[in-house]
Amino acid sequence: HYSELTSAEMELRIKEIRKQLGNKLFLPAHHYQKDEVVQFADVTGDSLQLAKISAQNKEADFIVFCGVHFMAETADMLSSINQTVILPDLKAGCSMADMADIHQTERAWKELNKIFGDTMLPLTYVNSTADIKAFCGKNGGATVTSSNAKEMVRWAFEQKERLLFLPDQHLGRNTAYDLGISLEDMAIWDPIKDELVFDGSDIERIKVILWKGHCSVHEKFTVNQIEDFRQNHSDYKIIVHPECTHEVVRASDLNGSTHYIIETIKNAEPGTKWAVGTEMNLVNRLAQQFPDKKIVSLNPNLCPCLTMNRIDLPHLLWSLENIIEGNPENIISVDDETKRYAVMALNRMM
Ligand code: 13P
Ligand code: SF4
Repeated sequence: HYSELTSAEMELRIKEIRKQLGNKLFLPAHHYQKDEVVQFADVTGDSLQLAKISAQNKEADFIVFCGVHFMAETADMLSSINQTVILPDLKAGCSMADMADIHQTERAWKELNKIFGDTMLPLTYVNSTADIKAFCGKNGGATVTSSNAKEMVRWAFEQKERLLFLPDQHLGRNTAYDLGISLEDMAIWDPIKDELVFDGSDIERIKVILWKGHCSVHEKFTVNQIEDFRQNHSDYKIIVHPECTHEVVRASDLNGSTHYIIETIKNAEPGTKWAVGTEMNLVNRLAQQFPDKKIVSLNPNLCPCLTMNRIDLPHLLWSLENIIEGNPENIISVDDETKRYAVMALNRMM
């Protein structure tokens, strides 16, 4: 029946239910969520902030997570046993997280062990399934986010000689490069062909094995866009997320996590101009929040994360109505065995 309701009617109903549930409800939202959802958020954050906040909240019975599936899984694993985590639309997945499944990962680990023996540590971006986090936990590794990737890669090299970085090749490459590892000392694991792709001459030199995954939003930013943009807008600074390709990151002025992008623009001088290479809901919101600065998307065709955008007013209202009717739906619940090992990986990071 939601198609018969206006936005204003849905918003009113959501407000009523929020009031009725009070502290029993906690509603975190990722920065890439739509404004129509963010207006109801108890807290907005990037992946790391939301993981920490979910672990801290102990009083809500229901955590209605406005983000994507892997974030809701993380919230479930870090929440208390009596808390129920709900994802308003189960189709809100992440194409990057889906690029590494556990069977592919176990096969890769076995093959890589034949080549490198016990010299590797697995690290996974939090943008991965609970199974992959558990795999890392079991094998001495950890999770990383874009906010702490450098610290975590440094930590990994204190444990082992090499690392397998899942599932985002770009964050892995950009981070390792910033830490002084040359591109020749990085290889790619192709999970479709089950093979190691390596251009250098000496396989012993490989330090980082990058999983061949990517973010479909951030990979759309190109060096051509940057060059075109600079031709007409030499007074803009270009800032991008490290999920963008290495070439795009090198061609930009600044790069960093969602949190870094927000803080950099927030603290910039009035009158400064920014072209931003990240998800468009965030870019549009920054433009509204900081009218004293000029903020535009680097991609002229804009760049939504289609799965993040699946969470909207009807899905949010539906989830909340289910709760007050005593019939919560779309519960995200990670099994105990997976949770045990995945939490090891998350705790090593946190
Ligand atoms: P962060 O929130 O860690 O910057 O990650 C960006 C992203 O793509 C979330 O899915
Ligand atoms: Fe996944 Fe990219 Fe969307 Fe983040 S922005 S949820 S990494 S597809």
